[in-house]
Amino acid sequence: MTAMRLEGRTALVTGASQGIGEAIVRVLGAQGAKVIAAARSIDKLQSLSAELAAEGVEVHPLELDLAAPETVAEKLGELPESFSEVDILVNNAGITEDGLLARMSLEAWEDVLRVNLTGAFATARAVSRGMMRRRWGRIISISSVVGLMGNAGQANYAAAKAGLVGFSKSLARELASRNVTVNVVAPGFIGTAMTDRIPEKHREELVGVIPLKRLGSVDDVAWAVAFLASEEAGYVTGHVLNVSGGLYI
Ligand SMILES: NC(=O)c1ccc[n+]([C@@H]2O[C@H](COP(=O)([O-])OP(=O)(O)OC[C@H]3O[C@@H](n4cnc5c(N)ncnc54)[C@H](OP(=O)(O)O)[C@@H]3O)[C@@H](O)[C@H]2O)c1
Repeated sequence: MTAMRLEGRTALVTGASQGIGEAIVRVLGAQGAKVIAAARSIDKLQSLSAELAAEGVEVHPLELDLAAPETVAEKLGELPESFSEVDILVNNAGITEDGLLARMSLEAWEDVLRVNLTGAFATARAVSRGMMRRRWGRIISISSVVGLMGNAGQANYAAAKAGLVGFSKSLARELASRNVTVNVVAPGFIGTAMTDRIPEKHREELVGVIPLKRLGSVDDVAWAVAFLASEEAGYVTGHVLNVSGGLYI
């Protein structure tokens, strides 16, 4: 990791306390960005911040609950001066509450939509004004191949993840004139706590249908995000980048 493509930039990563979000914090930090790491588990964020401080990476832990999207703007308004200008937003926080339609409660539907989609809306709205004013910004949302292909038992999750695509394409058009790019990364099956819950036999079957014959790693996703966040990706907007080992082509 020698290139320092993100020096001078401040990134906000939601869902940064573990899994893909934590990997994104590490990779963006290694590329020279200062990072606001947001999630509900403040202790995990604090240890990540302490660990990366030892490597010279500045990480500000931020307790943020996207199940209460109406609180997001205020929380971001309280950031310390040196972290107050967000240049790169990564909407990564996500939850699942799976079930077949007949058994899916309205609550399970609304919970997933609120955190995964409304949370991204509230966060993007809060940081976009500064990006437009400064004439530079990157908004990257972590969707899923499930949002593109559908998945039995995940109607709520698929709807939220597909929603992120329409949301991002609309923002890409709205914000382009201010040099703010808006893109989506759609991972396939990535080895994390979320996929650890899949039973072993089912996991083997899944790997069997992935052309690259392995689950993705959190770094596979983080590097795609780092590219879209970079200066060099400045002419890429409204794009959905699949990181799925060919699962979705
Ligand atoms: N793993 C996969 O195979 C895969 C595939 C495609 C897409 N994705 C997407 O990639 C993203 C990250 O997935 P992951 O596998 O790393 O998931 P994960 O390990 O379950 O982590 C989810 C993150 O979201 C945060 N979060 C959950 N509820 C939140 C809330 N109400 N407010 C704020 N933060 C909240 C969690 O932090 P706290 O609990 O501390 O709040 C955690 O940091 C998700 O959007 C997921 O849908 C994952």
